[in-house]
Amino acid sequence: MKIVHFSDPHGGGPAEDFMAYFDKRWVGVFNYSFRRKFRHDLSRLCRAVEYIMDTKPDLAVCTGDLTSAGQPGEFEKVLNIIKPLWQSDIPLIYTPGNHDCYVKRTKCVEAVKNAVRIMAQGKYSFDTMPLKLNFSGVDLLIINTSAPSNLLCSWGFLGEKNREFIKSACEKNPDIPKILISHYPMTEDHPWLRVRHRLFGQGEILDLMESKKLDLVLCGHVHRPYLKVDQSGRGECCAGSVSSNGSMVEISCDQKSHKFDFKNIALD
Ligand SMILES: [Fe+2]
Ligand SMILES: [Fe+2]
Repeated sequence: MKIVHFSDPHGGGPAEDFMAYFDKRWVGVFNYSFRRKFRHDLSRLCRAVEYIMDTKPDLAVCTGDLTSAGQPGEFEKVLNIIKPLWQSDIPLIYTPGNHDCYVKRTKCVEAVKNAVRIMAQGKYSFDTMPLKLNFSGVDLLIINTSAPSNLLCSWGFLGEKNREFIKSACEKNPDIPKILISHYPMTEDHPWLRVRHRLFGQGEILDLMESKKLDLVLCGHVHRPYLKVDQSGRGECCAGSVSSNGSMVEISCDQKSHKFDFKNIALD
C-alpha cells in the first residue's frame, strides 16, 4: 500500500469581516500578512497535488492547517488548489489543524466542517470523528485534536473520547497495522520549550506506540519534517509544511509484516 502524506499549507489572506478584529483571527491575519505570506508558497501545494495525481497512490493524507485564521475565503483558496485531488478517485483523508479551528465564529466553524466534508469525499464528517477506516488491510484511526484556543496559545487536547477510541481500536485485530492520523504529533522533544504549541493528554498513546500496538502516527503542526521510527519503520512521521519546506512523504506499507518505508519528496 502506498500513501502520500502532506501537511500545513497555511493559505491566508486579509480579515474577511469587521468582527475579525474582535476575535483571535486578527492574530492569524497579522501573522499571515507579516510572516507566513513570505514563507508559505502555495505553488508548492500545486506541485504536491500534481505529484499525487501523477503517481496515483492508494491513499493521500493531509494532516491539517489548510489555513492561517480559519476564514471561509482562506479555505476556499486552498480547497480550489486541492480540487483535482478531492474530485479524483484517489482516496483522501484530512483532519483539521489548530489554524483551521481558530475561532468559534459560526461562519468559520461552518467553513471547517465544509472542508472536512469536501476533503473526506463524503467518507466522514467533522462530527463523526474520531473514526476508523480500513484501507487495503490497514486501519486508519482519524482523530481531531484541534479546537479554538486562547489568544496566545495553539494547544491541542487529546480528550477522553479520543483516548478511549484509540486504545480500543489498538486492542483489536493485532494482525492489522494501525495508523493514527492527527494534526498534532504524539511525541514531543521539548514539551516546555514548545509550551505554546503543544498537545496535552497523549501519555497513554505513547505507551501504545512503545508496545507497537499502534504502528505509525502521521502528523503535521511542526513545520520542519521529521521521522522518528524504528528499524521496521514504526513510530511517528511528520510531513512538515508542504508550502514552506516543499516537503512531502511517500510511505510504502507492507501490511503483513507491519513494515513501513519512507521516501521524502522534495517539491522544489
Ligand atoms: Fe501549521
Ligand atoms: Fe498547527
